[in-house]
Amino acid sequence: MANVLLTTRCNLKCPYCFAQEKLADGQRVSMALKDVEKVINFLSRSNHPFFRAMGGEPTLHPDFPSILEMALKHGMRVDVLSNATWPESYNDLFRRTSPRRVVFLLNIDQPGRYAPPVWQRIQNNLEALADRGTVTLSFNVFEKEPKDEYVLELAQKYRIDKIRMSLSLPVLGANNACLKLEDYKQMTPFIVDFVRRAQQRGVQVCMDNAVPLCMFTYEQAGELLLKKVIDLERNMSCRPVIDIGPDLRVWCCFCLSKMWNRHLDEFQNLEEIYDYYRRALALYQSRLYPLDECQTCAWRESWNCQGGCLTHTVLKHGELPLDPIAVEPDVPAWKDDAVLAMPDGVVMRRYDIPEESFAVVNQASGLELEVDASFKPLLTDLQGHYSAREIVDRFVGNGGSNASSPSPVEMMAQSALRKGADELLQALVQQGFLIERTPV
Ligand SMILES: C[S@@+](CC[C@H](N)C(=O)[O-])C[C@H]1O[C@@H](n2cnc3c(N)ncnc32)[C@H](O)[C@@H]1O
Ligand code: SF4
Ligand code: SF4
Ligand code: SF4
Repeated sequence: MANVLLTTRCNLKCPYCFAQEKLADGQRVSMALKDVEKVINFLSRSNHPFFRAMGGEPTLHPDFPSILEMALKHGMRVDVLSNATWPESYNDLFRRTSPRRVVFLLNIDQPGRYAPPVWQRIQNNLEALADRGTVTLSFNVFEKEPKDEYVLELAQKYRIDKIRMSLSLPVLGANNACLKLEDYKQMTPFIVDFVRRAQQRGVQVCMDNAVPLCMFTYEQAGELLLKKVIDLERNMSCRPVIDIGPDLRVWCCFCLSKMWNRHLDEFQNLEEIYDYYRRALALYQSRLYPLDECQTCAWRESWNCQGGCLTHTVLKHGELPLDPIAVEPDVPAWKDDAVLAMPDGVVMRRYDIPEESFAVVNQASGLELEVDASFKPLLTDLQGHYSAREIVDRFVGNGGSNASSPSPVEMMAQSALRKGADELLQALVQQGFLIERTPV
């Protein structure tokens, strides 16, 4: 998924808003139409026919109706992520579009937070979309005692059958209202009760983002999994939802939007962007955890729980440097003649239960990269005597055939060994476990 920030303008100031880092970032900017077209072409050539219009408040973009039509003409489905305060004149346009081609995710707060005319407009807009079938309400839980009855009333009144519930997440570098990870457990009775009350009214609730599974008891987790409120694919570990800013900067998600900003022009397609941010997130995923109990947690192994939103992990362990990361995976991370060596403070560890494996460990940060035992010969060559090319050649020589004209099967095996060794060295260099030394 990719969100397109049509504008950083917004007419509201939700206390929990995780766009704050970007909304506060310089002036209020809206995406130029030529850039909207560029983004549409980028998404189309990535075989990604979804245009998720976001902001700020996307309907405040002065050309919002033309942008909607432009994306539809390119065969895309448009997802409007909005606070539902758009000018009522837009409802005619919405009425004329197929509910399958324009869908809505509407973030609406308690009525008391709006000026009366704005609340009236929200209700009129909801009435205009009632029965559309492709409208979801977005409900943010950011207080320990959330007010929730209004969401269920809105769903019932405007015949909306889906609610997306987000435990409001912290944003690096901002001060938005959100719950501490330590407070999550006390929210579970509320969540379970809310889901049951919603179900009685025929409303399906889905939780958004990565959720720490241990906030639930076994019974609660079972109930929420069966009711599809949480999902092991969606909620255990995050795959980045890319955001594309109005100036075509890209980042991996609002919460971490302070880190790892790139530009759309640096990538050929969305898959390359995902790949880049998958590598970036991997610095934290399955290596560092937000809670001490994660270290010995059975659910971490069996359900791949990463400990909730990675922002909690980053806040606990600090920002790890990512650059230089190879955006283009085939570009080697080293110079040809440089030898590779482990710097001071990086050591190798051997494990033998359940089977032999090795880990390269940064003693200062505690960061650890586990390496399969089949790479043992390669690891012994990381003492600063060989260049990357020599290390890979020696490894392939060890594991492969010595025949002067290898068979096609042996060639395939050698090429797989070479690729595996290359990728391992790249990862070790990129994550600072190996440094380059110019040979003396
Ligand atoms: C940042 S808003 C931008 C679009 C539009 N202005 C709106 O409010 O829907 C996009 C989505 O982010 C969700 N959101 C905002 N702050 C959040 C937070 N701290 N954690 C998780 N989701 C959040 C909102 O519920 C909304 O669905
Ligand atoms: S959540 Fe949406 S409506 Fe609220 S301040 Fe953020 S961008 Fe604006
Ligand atoms: S990995 Fe951590 S956050 Fe996830 S269930 Fe285990 S203890 Fe909880
Ligand atoms: S770190 Fe992961 S869970 Fe948190 S907001 Fe980003 S993508 Fe979502």
